[in-house]
Amino acid sequence: MEKEMKSIVEEIIGKIERMSLLQDQGCTSEVHQVVTEEGSYVLKNSYERKYREWLRNEAGVLEKLNTNTEIPTPNYNGYFEGKNSSHLLMSFEKGVTLTTLLREAKKQELLSLIKSFGQFLQHLHETTATGFHNNQWLVEQLKKAEGYVKSGDADGRCELLQKLILNQPSDVQQTMIHGDCTTDNVMVINGKVRLFIDVAGMTMGDPRYDESLAIRKWLHHEEYIEAFYEGYRRYKVTKQEFEYFNEGLYEFF
Ligand SMILES: Nc1ncnc2c1ncn2[C@@H]1O[C@H](COP(=O)(O)OP(=O)(O)OP(=O)(O)O)[C@@H](O)[C@H]1O
Ligand SMILES: [Mg+2]
Repeated sequence: MEKEMKSIVEEIIGKIERMSLLQDQGCTSEVHQVVTEEGSYVLKNSYERKYREWLRNEAGVLEKLNTNTEIPTPNYNGYFEGKNSSHLLMSFEKGVTLTTLLREAKKQELLSLIKSFGQFLQHLHETTATGFHNNQWLVEQLKKAEGYVKSGDADGRCELLQKLILNQPSDVQQTMIHGDCTTDNVMVINGKVRLFIDVAGMTMGDPRYDESLAIRKWLHHEEYIEAFYEGYRRYKVTKQEFEYFNEGLYEFF
């Protein structure tokens, strides 16, 4: 680590004893475990403009949630920016992502984990009084998508975006959402899904987006979908809604 960066990190979490790159890396950042006398932390670094913006949002969300006991996330420790990089410090959590566990799990365990994911997401969608407000979530997402298309920062095509703008699904009650609710971004601790990570998109928004991303890998596994809905009982997305969010909006993020 650069000297200057090291000293900022140490100012926040104390003298570094050791540091290592985490085995599981995401696509948008570089994540390290940093151990000090005080505890164990994650240092998440981003370098590209779009991802630096996401990291700044994630820092804001984590900081806001530090005093919230309803929504389990890592604890926020600090955030700082360099000239070409952004850095977030949070608590290191002893868990494994749901994606990793599903790879190894036997059938019964797998179904139980998926049900637990459904329950965990339902709890988030039922959480009120979070201090987050946003009445125009979808409009804002579409605007962001347009910006990404213009700057060449999105995979999605312009025609697809036009289609999404013209064919917005009917309104539903907005709830607290994760905003990138794939199995990569929840962690399992002691056999249950208990923690959200990668929370840059967490805000008040359309719960059908979370639901669609949550089940996206199980389209051809009816049993898995059933297990999810044993845990998530508040609503089932229609095929059209699923396609709008998973094959539509998500293409731009
Ligand atoms: N607080 C934490 N404690 C322990 N491990 C963590 C923590 N945060 C992240 N990780 C690990 O680092 C990996 C990458 O983290 P994260 O999903 O936040 O990165 P990302 O680059 O934003 O991913 P994405 O490509 O989904 O945007 C996770 O899969 C997880 O294994
Ligand atoms: Mg992630």
